[in-house]
Amino acid sequence: MDQYAIKGGNPLVGEVEIGGAKNAALPILAASVMTDETVYIDNMPDVRDTNVLLKAMANIGVMQKRTGRHSVTLNAGNINSLVVEDDNIKKIRASYYLIGAMLGKYKHAEVALPGGCDIGCRAIDQHIKGFRALGAEVIIEYGLIKTKAEKLVGSHIYMDCVSVGATINVMMAATLAEGTTIIENAAKEPHVVDLANFLNSMGANIKGAGTDVIRIKGVEKLHGTEYTVIPDQIEAGTFMFAAAVTKGDIVVKNVIPKHLESIVAKLIEIGCEVEEADDWMRVVATKRLKTTHVKTLPYPGFPTDMQPQIAVALGLSQGTSIVTDTIFENRFKYVDELIRMGANIKVEGTTAIIDGVEKYTGATISAPDLRAGAALVLGALSAEGYSVIEDIHYIERGYEDFPQKLQSLGAQIELIESERDLQKFKLKIG
Ligand code: UD1
Repeated sequence: MDQYAIKGGNPLVGEVEIGGAKNAALPILAASVMTDETVYIDNMPDVRDTNVLLKAMANIGVMQKRTGRHSVTLNAGNINSLVVEDDNIKKIRASYYLIGAMLGKYKHAEVALPGGCDIGCRAIDQHIKGFRALGAEVIIEYGLIKTKAEKLVGSHIYMDCVSVGATINVMMAATLAEGTTIIENAAKEPHVVDLANFLNSMGANIKGAGTDVIRIKGVEKLHGTEYTVIPDQIEAGTFMFAAAVTKGDIVVKNVIPKHLESIVAKLIEIGCEVEEADDWMRVVATKRLKTTHVKTLPYPGFPTDMQPQIAVALGLSQGTSIVTDTIFENRFKYVDELIRMGANIKVEGTTAIIDGVEKYTGATISAPDLRAGAALVLGALSAEGYSVIEDIHYIERGYEDFPQKLQSLGAQIELIESERDLQKFKLKIG
């Protein structure tokens, strides 16, 4: 099993290019089945989740041509099945975007129930409520969500909670419904806006994405398009916190600063300097970090996907910080691992009480999920001595070339497969 071997203690310094947003690319790939014409997608991250989705789409007959590592052309004109059931698709959350996309286009879809990171109860009641409001029948049977409709008709839908997935799914189905759909209490995340822009570039009529009321006037059909996915806000935030925890100096390139506002605000509160330009940001940390309190919230609040990374930083700050995750109730599984590295953290329900320690020390720890895994890598990079991070397949779901990008900033990190590789790494690093 692949692992990362890390020797911590080096400040990370340099520039790193941020890739396309995984959470925007996934619904955009799924939505490309909504036209018979060819779609060209650029700035697509080459990560496990996007590749799993592409494979599942290939299995139902979506023609694909990878024109570069980050670009693909897709043509769904000859789909041969509306049932998506391959084994891998169950492992990723975004599999359910094929429901909204295929229901919209074909008025029928059957997709294996989604998996994804085990970070809490990930209900889909709001997706189902939205599909039903548009006139679809929805049943869950033999592990599949099955949806069918004679026709979809626009509706006024009030989401009971702010859900990225439900907003995206209902928006896709409503794009090809008759009449107007209004989604109230919609998610405002940048990837929701990116999908709306993508659909509009295919001829959809969606207004208000990025606010909490989205209006979708149904259109009869969509056409081909060329589209560039937005930069990944969470990948950028992770590298910005890598600067904070290693007392480094990192420039993240190819970012949209607006999407990083809540992250920047926290970096400044904990004592980092942040410099901002049109499409890059620089984070410099020179002193011991200060404490702060954090509550994760839907965008534009502090993202739950950055909660483990900031907690790892606060674990090194001077004093006590409180971190509350209001989105997912099981997102502190990394805390036990961080405690092995010397952190002093107590979790009570959805809150972590963090008493900062002066330093972490290297340990063998395992990644419990995607973002927590990346956060533990940051912890290991700041720690004294060697660490081994197990279960890195989680990290590979959402970070492209993570060890290589960190190496380019001066990190001592290597992908290893065995104890022998670890010994070699130790000999090389010294
Ligand atoms: C997406 C992101 C994930 C991020 C999360 C919140 C993708 C592939 N994943 O996940 O990285 O952490 O947004 O920003 O984009 N809920 C319900 N009923 C529903 C749907 C959601 O109760 O029908 C609840 C969930 O349990 C959770 C909250 O709403 O407590 C937010 O979930 P949601 O925004 O839907 O997250 P995902 O789309 O699964």
